[in-house]
Amino acid sequence: MITSLILTAGFFHLSSSELTTYSITDSGGAVPEGGSADWTGQLVDAWTKACGSNAPATVVVPAGTFFVRHVVLVGPCRSSHISVNIAGTIVSPATYTSEEHWIVFMNVSGLTISGGVFDGRGQAIWNCKSLAIMNSNNVRLNSVSLVNSEMFHILIYGSMDVLVTGARISAPDGSPNTDGIHIQESNGVTVLGSNIATGDDCISIGPGSTNVWIESIKCGPGHGISIGSLGSEKVQNGVRNVTAKHVEFVGTDNGFRIKTWAKPSDGFVDHVLFQNATMNNVKNPIIIDQRYCPRKNNCPNQSSGIQISDVVFRDVEGTSATEVAVELYCSSSKPCRDVWLMNINLRSAGVGPTMSCSNVNGGSHGVISPPCCLA
Ligand SMILES: *[C@@H]1O[C@H](CO)[C@@H](O)[C@H](O)[C@H]1NC(C)=O
Ligand SMILES: *[C@@H]1O[C@H](CO)[C@@H](O)[C@H](O)[C@H]1NC(C)=O
Ligand SMILES: *[C@@H]1O[C@H](CO)[C@@H](O)[C@H](O)[C@H]1NC(C)=O
Ligand SMILES: *[C@@H]1O[C@H](CO)[C@@H](O)[C@H](O)[C@H]1NC(C)=O
Repeated sequence: MITSLILTAGFFHLSSSELTTYSITDSGGAVPEGGSADWTGQLVDAWTKACGSNAPATVVVPAGTFFVRHVVLVGPCRSSHISVNIAGTIVSPATYTSEEHWIVFMNVSGLTISGGVFDGRGQAIWNCKSLAIMNSNNVRLNSVSLVNSEMFHILIYGSMDVLVTGARISAPDGSPNTDGIHIQESNGVTVLGSNIATGDDCISIGPGSTNVWIESIKCGPGHGISIGSLGSEKVQNGVRNVTAKHVEFVGTDNGFRIKTWAKPSDGFVDHVLFQNATMNNVKNPIIIDQRYCPRKNNCPNQSSGIQISDVVFRDVEGTSATEVAVELYCSSSKPCRDVWLMNINLRSAGVGPTMSCSNVNGGSHGVISPPCCLA
């Protein structure tokens, strides 16, 4: 009788605490051995148990180095909240993979990923590697590091209420076309206190992004913080309500940028605040480019259908690496509306700086240098 009671109490204790924590190293299966041991199965196993738990559950990746192949960790989960606590380093395959994403969390509601180093073991021949959050909501990424890859990023797609804090992303300058953090078709995404060095945009905000907040970012090397590119498709969701503030750009191609293709589209960019940035030797500190065509061949060469309106650039200072420090090149068929410059103070090392305006309506407040060309 007494023994049985104790066992029951013991079981109850375990099920409410320890049993909802699943370490990849103590799953039922054989523990892989050796330097190239593959931990993908153990990760899926721990995820499946956590996801199926009736209570909030935790997946643990302890200190150490764990090789993981392409994997989709999928919900919906029975558990209302899953934490993935990573103390160690997760390394990607070192050979070419045609998969678009590396580690994907999909269809999860209530997810916190904390810590960890994701090592892309970068080489340019690889396909794009990403840590992707897809069709998920109520997601936190705390202090996640992505290192050592040329085509590697965080993708937030089709998701709602996502908070990224303290992310560190480092890839060499000149690595091709992979944004540090890319947001698309998502609502309520916040990125705070992150340090991003990459070969493309530090943060890019694609079609269908709404209520995005970006604050306290160090960006460089890279292509800056961009809305776009937009207008590659004729029918496309717009971008609404984006704030990016307290950003330090170092040696980037762009600072704050909006880029759209020069062809018909029904998309839009509306209600944007770019505020408080320091530009250190940035080629295009402030730029709206509605004839975006990065490879300069087969450019559509029409007028962009994307309507840009209600955009404020405010409290921006520092140095431009080129003569044109502010370029506002808008669509001839859909001129930009309500573009405002406030307290802009940009210097140039050589000639200039100057500002150039095309098809843009708006105005300015406070000190504006280079001299303002906004009507
Ligand atoms: C995720 O959910 C969507 C519907 O919301 C479904 O179409 C898709 O198949 C799910 N993905 C997976 C991998 O289960
Ligand atoms: C804009 O988005 C922010 C969050 O990024 C939100 O707090 C604010 O209420 C939104 N503004 C409007 C007008 O929807
Ligand atoms: C774009 O079109 C204009 C006029 O149709 C032409 O003058 C210009 O050369 C074209 N540019 C390119 C890059 O094709
Ligand atoms: C941006 O904000 C920081 C902190 O609030 C402040 O120290 C800095 O002077 C501001 N920079 C500009 C250009 O307003």
